[in-house]
Amino acid sequence: MNHQHLHIPERRQGLKTICLGLLGGMVLSTLAIGAETPVSRGTALYASACASCHGANPALGQLNILKGRKDGALILKVIKENKGGMGYLSGSIQAAQAADIAAYLGGF
Ligand code: HEC
Repeated sequence: MNHQHLHIPERRQGLKTICLGLLGGMVLSTLAIGAETPVSRGTALYASACASCHGANPALGQLNILKGRKDGALILKVIKENKGGMGYLSGSIQAAQAADIAAYLGGF
């Protein structure tokens, strides 16, 4: 029996698995960075449309912002009712945007 011949191919196989694993991980993380999610869209929308009054950090709950947590319908409603002078946002914040912001707020 020649043990060398049995062991070398096994080791190569292991290395190949590790390389493929690394490559797969890189592809997956690239996709994750590039992909838009409700939370990533909501983060950007919050910063551009809400932070000026509610503050950069929603965790502080300024002006009851956390009432909009996971509640896009409430966000739409208060904008429609011009609560706190938010009515001017109705042109840019519609159901889809409100849902994204609500998803982002859900993280606080
Ligand atoms: C021009 C300033 C301003 C901007 C910009 C603004 N808000 Fe407000 N918002 C207010 C004020 C003021 C209140 C408190 C109103 C009150 O209690 O009568 C408020 C209240 C709220 C509430 C609580 C409503 C309730 O029923 O108590 C939510 C939720 C909310 N805003 C979400 C948002 C979101 C989401 C955005 C961005 C799309 C946003 N606001 C942008 C001023 C603003």
